[in-house]
Amino acid sequence: MSEHTIDGIIEKYRGQPGSLIHALVEIQHQNHWLPREVMQKVADALQVPFAQVMQIASFYKAFSLTPKGRHEVHVCTGMTCHLRGAAKLRAKVEELTGLKDGETDTDSRFTYQTGACLGSCSIGPELIVNGKHYGRMTPEKIEDVLKQYE
Ligand code: FES
Repeated sequence: MSEHTIDGIIEKYRGQPGSLIHALVEIQHQNHWLPREVMQKVADALQVPFAQVMQIASFYKAFSLTPKGRHEVHVCTGMTCHLRGAAKLRAKVEELTGLKDGETDTDSRFTYQTGACLGSCSIGPELIVNGKHYGRMTPEKIEDVLKQYE
Protein backbone atom coordinates (compact mmCIF):
# COMPACT_ATOMS: atom_id res chain seq x y z
CA MET A 1 0.00 0.00 0.00
CA SER A 2 1.30 3.48 -0.86
CA GLU A 3 2.53 5.42 2.11
CA HIS A 4 0.67 8.39 0.67
CA THR A 5 -2.73 6.85 1.37
CA ILE A 6 -4.19 7.42 4.81
CA ASP A 7 -3.78 3.75 5.73
CA GLY A 8 -0.21 3.84 4.43
CA ILE A 9 0.58 6.83 6.63
CA ILE A 10 -0.94 5.16 9.67
CA GLU A 11 1.01 1.94 9.01
CA LYS A 12 4.25 3.87 8.75
CA TYR A 13 3.84 5.08 12.34
CA ARG A 14 2.27 1.95 13.85
CA GLY A 15 3.44 1.39 17.43
CA GLN A 16 5.12 4.82 17.60
CA PRO A 17 3.13 7.04 19.99
CA GLY A 18 5.82 9.73 19.79
CA SER A 19 5.02 10.19 16.10
CA LEU A 20 1.41 11.22 16.66
CA ILE A 21 1.82 14.79 15.38
CA HIS A 22 3.82 13.63 12.33
CA ALA A 23 1.06 11.19 11.44
CA LEU A 24 -1.67 13.80 11.83
CA VAL A 25 0.28 16.36 9.78
CA GLU A 26 0.70 13.89 6.92
CA ILE A 27 -2.95 12.85 6.99
CA GLN A 28 -4.10 16.48 7.10
CA HIS A 29 -1.86 17.22 4.11
CA GLN A 30 -3.13 14.22 2.17
CA ASN A 31 -6.83 14.42 3.03
CA HIS A 32 -7.23 18.14 3.90
CA TRP A 33 -9.05 17.26 7.12
CA LEU A 34 -9.14 14.65 9.91
CA PRO A 35 -12.31 12.52 10.00
CA ARG A 36 -13.17 11.06 13.40
CA GLU A 37 -12.87 7.45 12.21
CA VAL A 38 -9.38 8.15 10.88
CA MET A 39 -8.34 9.59 14.24
CA GLN A 40 -9.66 6.42 15.89
CA LYS A 41 -7.46 4.34 13.54
CA VAL A 42 -4.47 6.52 14.40
CA ALA A 43 -5.15 6.06 18.13
CA ASP A 44 -5.34 2.27 17.75
CA ALA A 45 -2.27 1.92 15.54
CA LEU A 46 0.00 4.29 17.45
CA GLN A 47 -1.29 3.05 20.83
CA VAL A 48 -2.32 6.50 21.97
CA PRO A 49 -5.59 7.20 23.85
CA PHE A 50 -8.25 8.53 21.46
CA ALA A 51 -8.81 11.51 23.78
CA GLN A 52 -5.18 12.51 23.32
CA VAL A 53 -5.47 12.35 19.53
CA MET A 54 -8.57 14.56 19.71
CA GLN A 55 -6.83 16.97 22.05
CA ILE A 56 -3.89 17.43 19.67
CA ALA A 57 -6.12 17.65 16.60
CA SER A 58 -8.31 20.31 18.23
CA PHE A 59 -5.42 22.32 19.66
CA TYR A 60 -3.38 23.06 16.54
CA LYS A 61 -4.89 25.35 13.93
CA ALA A 62 -3.11 23.43 11.19
CA PHE A 63 -5.55 20.56 11.71
CA SER A 64 -9.11 20.64 10.53
CA LEU A 65 -11.87 18.52 12.07
CA THR A 66 -14.32 19.44 9.32
CA PRO A 67 -14.05 18.78 5.58
CA LYS A 68 -11.82 21.16 3.67
CA GLY A 69 -11.43 21.76 -0.04
CA ARG A 70 -8.22 21.16 -1.96
CA HIS A 71 -7.73 24.92 -2.10
CA GLU A 72 -8.28 27.48 0.66
CA VAL A 73 -9.53 30.83 -0.59
CA HIS A 74 -9.26 33.69 1.85
CA VAL A 75 -10.47 37.27 1.45
CA CYS A 76 -8.95 39.72 3.92
CA THR A 77 -11.56 41.87 5.63
CA GLY A 78 -9.14 43.86 7.78
CA MET A 79 -9.63 47.63 7.89
CA THR A 80 -7.24 48.55 5.07
CA CYS A 81 -8.59 45.93 2.69
CA HIS A 82 -12.12 46.87 3.72
CA LEU A 83 -11.50 50.51 2.80
CA ARG A 84 -10.03 49.40 -0.53
CA GLY A 85 -13.00 47.33 -1.60
CA ALA A 86 -12.80 43.92 0.09
CA ALA A 87 -16.61 43.71 0.09
CA LYS A 88 -16.61 43.61 -3.72
CA LEU A 89 -14.00 40.84 -3.67
CA ARG A 90 -16.13 38.85 -1.25
CA ALA A 91 -19.21 39.29 -3.42
CA LYS A 92 -17.32 38.10 -6.51
CA VAL A 93 -15.78 35.06 -4.79
CA GLU A 94 -19.22 34.13 -3.44
CA GLU A 95 -20.79 34.56 -6.86
CA LEU A 96 -18.13 32.44 -8.61
CA THR A 97 -17.94 29.65 -6.04
CA GLY A 98 -21.49 29.68 -4.67
CA LEU A 99 -20.00 29.55 -1.18
CA LYS A 100 -20.58 31.60 1.95
CA ASP A 101 -17.89 32.33 4.53
CA GLY A 102 -16.62 29.11 6.10
CA GLU A 103 -18.15 26.76 3.52
CA THR A 104 -16.60 24.03 1.35
CA ASP A 105 -18.09 23.05 -1.99
CA THR A 106 -19.48 19.59 -2.60
CA ASP A 107 -16.63 18.47 -4.85
CA SER A 108 -14.09 19.68 -2.26
CA ARG A 109 -12.45 22.14 -4.65
CA PHE A 110 -12.59 25.25 -2.48
CA THR A 111 -12.96 26.19 1.15
CA TYR A 112 -13.79 29.88 1.41
CA GLN A 113 -13.04 32.05 4.43
CA THR A 114 -12.82 35.69 5.28
CA GLY A 115 -10.70 36.99 8.08
CA ALA A 116 -8.72 39.69 9.74
CA CYS A 117 -5.58 41.43 8.51
CA LEU A 118 -2.73 39.14 7.52
CA GLY A 119 -0.13 41.86 7.55
CA SER A 120 0.11 42.66 3.84
CA CYS A 121 -1.98 45.85 3.97
CA SER A 122 0.28 47.71 1.55
CA ILE A 123 -0.84 45.42 -1.28
CA GLY A 124 -4.50 45.28 -0.24
CA PRO A 125 -7.16 44.49 -1.02
CA GLU A 126 -5.95 40.98 -1.22
CA LEU A 127 -7.07 37.51 -2.03
CA ILE A 128 -5.05 34.58 -0.67
CA VAL A 129 -5.23 31.12 -2.18
CA ASN A 130 -3.37 28.29 -0.46
CA GLY A 131 -1.21 30.87 1.28
CA LYS A 132 -0.28 32.70 -1.95
CA HIS A 133 -1.06 36.42 -1.75
CA TYR A 134 -2.71 38.16 -4.71
CA GLY A 135 -2.45 41.86 -4.00
CA ARG A 136 -4.29 44.86 -5.48
CA MET A 137 -7.02 42.46 -6.41
CA THR A 138 -10.12 43.53 -8.30
CA PRO A 139 -13.35 41.57 -8.80
CA GLU A 140 -12.53 41.35 -12.54
CA LYS A 141 -9.27 39.46 -11.87
CA ILE A 142 -10.67 36.89 -9.46
CA GLU A 143 -12.00 34.45 -12.04
CA ASP A 144 -8.58 34.17 -13.70
CA VAL A 145 -6.95 33.50 -10.33
CA LEU A 146 -9.43 30.82 -9.28
CA LYS A 147 -9.14 29.09 -12.68
CA GLN A 148 -5.57 28.21 -11.76
CA TYR A 149 -6.79 25.99 -8.93
CA GLU A 150 -8.57 22.80 -10.01
S1 FES B 1 -6.09 44.75 6.16
FE1 FES B 1 -5.88 43.26 4.62
S2 FES B 1 -3.79 42.71 4.77
FE2 FES B 1 -4.04 44.16 6.34
